[in-house]
Amino acid sequence: MAYTSLDLTCEGGIATLTFNRPKALNALNTALLEELADAIARIGKDESIRVLILTGAGEKSFIAGADITEIATLTPLAAKKFAQFGQDVIGALQGLAIPAIAAVNGYALGGGCEMALACDFIYASEKAIFGLPEITLGVIPGFGGTQRLPRLIGANRAKEMIFTGKHLTAAEAKEIGLVNKIFAPEELLAAALETAKLIAGKGKASLCAAKQTVNQGLNADLATGLGIERDAFALCLASPDAKEGTGAFLEKRKAVFTGGLNS
Ligand code: CAA
Repeated sequence: MAYTSLDLTCEGGIATLTFNRPKALNALNTALLEELADAIARIGKDESIRVLILTGAGEKSFIAGADITEIATLTPLAAKKFAQFGQDVIGALQGLAIPAIAAVNGYALGGGCEMALACDFIYASEKAIFGLPEITLGVIPGFGGTQRLPRLIGANRAKEMIFTGKHLTAAEAKEIGLVNKIFAPEELLAAALETAKLIAGKGKASLCAAKQTVNQGLNADLATGLGIERDAFALCLASPDAKEGTGAFLEKRKAVFTGGLNS
């Protein structure tokens, strides 16, 4: 599938997905979501990709939300289908085995904030603006915001954001734990790439196991989560990367991880 609203590049095991619909501040319409679904499936199948970075084209916007011109015309039944599709695509992003970093370069509103929430962590430009402004439109977040945001920052802070629809600066978003780090706009992508390279140098099996264990454990009680961790730890130890990692330490050299998920 050829993309018109997305750019997908891959170099050195790091894929970068750029939302590129600048005239609408990269708003998510059905066509863009379809392209995104295709891109996520491609990334998921590509053994060589170890880390994904998501960002928006231009300095103004990461994603300014779901496309309001499309939402405004939906019947309730069509709205349910639209929300289901958005949730499925964003769920597929969260479900990727590899780590994903949101490099939020501008507005991350509504569906844009929800997209960033499905990534493993968020780096933001000083110019980034976060918010779930759906209440201002007479609706509520429909792409997972009512569920992922409270899990990340707590119900009280999430409710304040959802009930007021207020925009948060990058500094405010960092203060409440939504954003990990803030960078000057021109340094954001380089910083995300540097972290992605650090991660890409680790073993793929252990990276994916770490992501899956944290995510599954968040939806379980502590005892169940610890059980998931034990099993994943044991599975990792059977991987060629674990042999390489432990062997390299004992031989006092730098480990070179070459294992994939199928090795
Ligand atoms: N959908 C469709 N078009 C959008 C859009 C959106 N979410 N956000 C911006 N645009 C369009 C504008 O209509 C405008 O188009 P025209 O040039 O054709 O008029 C263009 O992008 C530029 O936007 P503005 O002129 O408004 O730019 P600004 O700098 O004055 O304001 C903004 C920027 C504060 C982001 C403002 O555009 C805005 O508030 N956008 C809407 C944000 C929003 O409410 N998002 C939530 C959407 S609903 C949702 O996401 C539901 C869900 O969970 C599934």
